[in-house]
Amino acid sequence: MQTTRLTLELIRTVDESYPIIIGNDLAKETVELASHPDLVDRRVAIITDSNVVKLYGAQLEEAFASVERETNTFVFPAGEASKTRAMKEQLENQLIDAGYGRDSLIIALGGGVVTDLAGFVAATYTRGLPYISLSTTLVGAADASVGGKTAIDVPQATNLIGAFHQPKAVLIDLDRWVTLTDDQIRDGLGETIKQACIADANFFDALEDAFVTRGLSVAEFVRDDEIAELTARRNCLIKRDFVMSDVHEGNRRMCLNLGHTIGRALEAAMGYTMTHGACVAVGMNLQARWSVEFGYMTPEEQERLERLLLAAGMPTEIPAGVSVEQIMAAMTHDKKAKGGAIRFVFQKGIGDVMTFDNGLYARPIEQSDIVDFLRRQKERP
Ligand SMILES: NC(=O)c1ccc[n+]([C@@H]2O[C@H](COP(=O)([O-])OP(=O)(O)OC[C@H]3O[C@@H](n4cnc5c(N)ncnc54)[C@H](O)[C@@H]3O)[C@@H](O)[C@H]2O)c1
Ligand SMILES: [Zn+2]
Repeated sequence: MQTTRLTLELIRTVDESYPIIIGNDLAKETVELASHPDLVDRRVAIITDSNVVKLYGAQLEEAFASVERETNTFVFPAGEASKTRAMKEQLENQLIDAGYGRDSLIIALGGGVVTDLAGFVAATYTRGLPYISLSTTLVGAADASVGGKTAIDVPQATNLIGAFHQPKAVLIDLDRWVTLTDDQIRDGLGETIKQACIADANFFDALEDAFVTRGLSVAEFVRDDEIAELTARRNCLIKRDFVMSDVHEGNRRMCLNLGHTIGRALEAAMGYTMTHGACVAVGMNLQARWSVEFGYMTPEEQERLERLLLAAGMPTEIPAGVSVEQIMAAMTHDKKAKGGAIRFVFQKGIGDVMTFDNGLYARPIEQSDIVDFLRRQKERP
């Protein structure tokens, strides 16, 4: 028998552009975006968590009701523990029971857990539904809401199962930040300071002015209209530019991982008892010290970073009780790099990152050298 070969030619060019809107009290704006001709005939499903629904659920429902658009709100228990296959299935079953079909629109109302989970539901429900993210946390503004990465966790790893599914719009509602706890704000500040370090010296200056010069507390920071707006805008611009240049996480998007190689390992070594943002702060500060050793940053630049982190109430050292061995075990587990070198992104001064051979934004470092560096950090007076 002759073998037959056919080619199904599918070279897709898709326009997945979407607006990012930063402002105050954006429930009405969300409804307007959902009234776009492509979305206006769709049944609206609001997906949110048990905390956010109490604070802002009614407001969003009323905004839709005011234009006589029916909504149903689907609520899951707040927290990372809900980012599971089981919770995704539960939400899908609820959508099925409520008769939601291909003509639906999902509104993700909440922080990163909501946008990741609801976004992933949207990615696969009837093979893909449009969704709009109405982000309510600083982590959302700094990182989670822009970029189209959606996912759930499994016991073996966080964010292991997911999809790239871009939202139709992202809204960053600054009014929502005032109900965040100090720790939740700091969680977002870790990523915020990182963005400034990799891409925006002026933004770094503004953060330094707020925390170091003016001595704002984190609660005052989110209530200061000017710096809050600037923070959301610069964060989104920086993330947008990295995503636009490298949507699927090749080389350039790697810069966003500054401080994360140590930060993520520390997070895992501590059994996720310290927030991601706080762990990234430690990772960034340590890597800045390393940058000084390699000649990529001046000692003064590293000191500015450390001063800013401390002024914002962020940790800057490996906490007592966490050993170098625990960090290394987590780092090599994460990287599946038993024995081999591990890649690190390094700051170049403030507001830029180093490029290495072949234009790569990360430099491999032998594990023995990492251990040596971390030991020296632990032994600091
Ligand atoms: N997709 C991405 O690119 C990306 C990037 C970074 C982080 N993430 C994910 O984001 C998640 C962390 O984000 P997060 O910190 O926003 O998590 P979250 O959604 O769990 O929010 C943190 C807590 O704050 C509560 N909350 C939310 N908004 C509030 C408000 N306005 N006032 C008071 N409380 C409020 C939530 O109920 C929750 O208890 C992680 O799961 C992480 O993996 C995703
Ligand atoms: Zn991060």
